[in-house]
Amino acid sequence: MSKLNICILGGTGFVGHSITDRLADQGHRIKILTRSREPHRSMLVLPTVSLIEGDIYDQSFLNQEFKGMDVVINLVGILNEFRGKPTFEKAHAILPAYVADACKNQHVPRLLHMSALKASNGGPSEYLRTKGTGEDRVHQMAGQKVNVTSFRPSVIFGPRDSFTNRFAQLIKLAPGVLPLACPNARFQPIYVEDVAEVFVQAIGNYHTYGKRYELCGPRVYTLRELVKYIAEVTHRRCHVVPLNDGLSKLQALVGEILPGKPISLDNYRSMREDSCCKGGFPEEFTITLTELEAVVPHYLGHERREHPRRRGR
Ligand SMILES: NC(=O)c1ccc[n+]([C@@H]2O[C@H](COP(=O)([O-])OP(=O)(O)OC[C@H]3O[C@@H](n4cnc5c(N)ncnc54)[C@H](OP(=O)(O)O)[C@@H]3O)[C@@H](O)[C@H]2O)c1
Repeated sequence: MSKLNICILGGTGFVGHSITDRLADQGHRIKILTRSREPHRSMLVLPTVSLIEGDIYDQSFLNQEFKGMDVVINLVGILNEFRGKPTFEKAHAILPAYVADACKNQHVPRLLHMSALKASNGGPSEYLRTKGTGEDRVHQMAGQKVNVTSFRPSVIFGPRDSFTNRFAQLIKLAPGVLPLACPNARFQPIYVEDVAEVFVQAIGNYHTYGKRYELCGPRVYTLRELVKYIAEVTHRRCHVVPLNDGLSKLQALVGEILPGKPISLDNYRSMREDSCCKGGFPEEFTITLTELEAVVPHYLGHERREHPRRRGR
């Protein structure tokens, strides 16, 4: 593939790091739009990566930064709403429309959009409804001039994730007993490097134009199984107490007012829908899917001996 000019929104995040690393390895010129440049300066060690600070929710900023780009990748997403910060609607539904519009205006031929499994404007949570609306808007607005592909992953795991790491922290803080909301919610976790590889392969593959892909890992787990596994890997004695639906909702209501919202009502509503794929892995991509058990022990396994901060790259 020739060297491309690629603009990434959300490139400083968990998935963004992995995608940026792969694209930079291939020598592409990557411009990451970020709300704040300083915390992510370490990404500048990659010689073809630049960080541009600005308001990604400002259409004129997007139009200016998309000029001359071959590819735009939008990875922006939030798991919870916080007072004074962009809402689900703004981050998941309004921003993707701005991005598609700016791609059209600036003649950017390729757009990769990150959605989420079970995103649908009739979904059970605001997270899934707004993700669904955003995904639909991107495909409707892109028209014939912008080749758009969107991706709908289940939960993504990896050293910098906020899923396995969050439960590892909760287990550590729990006094030997962890009351677990939505214990029977089902997930099909996919490894972050597999997701990143799919994005990279999609860029130049015209078979993927206009498509929406569900992305899942090799196995389905209940939340309870995953949490018990994390306790085992981190060598913590922790009795997981499965909560029924009423108590799960109550825990989510309490979680709403705790610092950092360890669980919210909207998270609880999302988990009422299984996060598992309907079919096998899309055949357009050549990937050997990574097992959770092959990776998680490497970054959580030393949890007890090391400083509890998240191990990044
Ligand atoms: N992680 C998963 O398990 C998972 C599963 C399914 C789908 N997804 C989707 O995949 C995408 C990437 O997920 P991720 O886990 O890499 O997310 P992440 O680590 O939180 O990164 C998201 C990035 O979005 C940018 N951003 C822009 N507006 C933001 C806002 N208002 N609040 C927070 N961040 C904002 C941030 O970049 P700056 O700080 O540089 O501005 C941040 O680095 C998201 O769209 C997410 O919904 C993730």
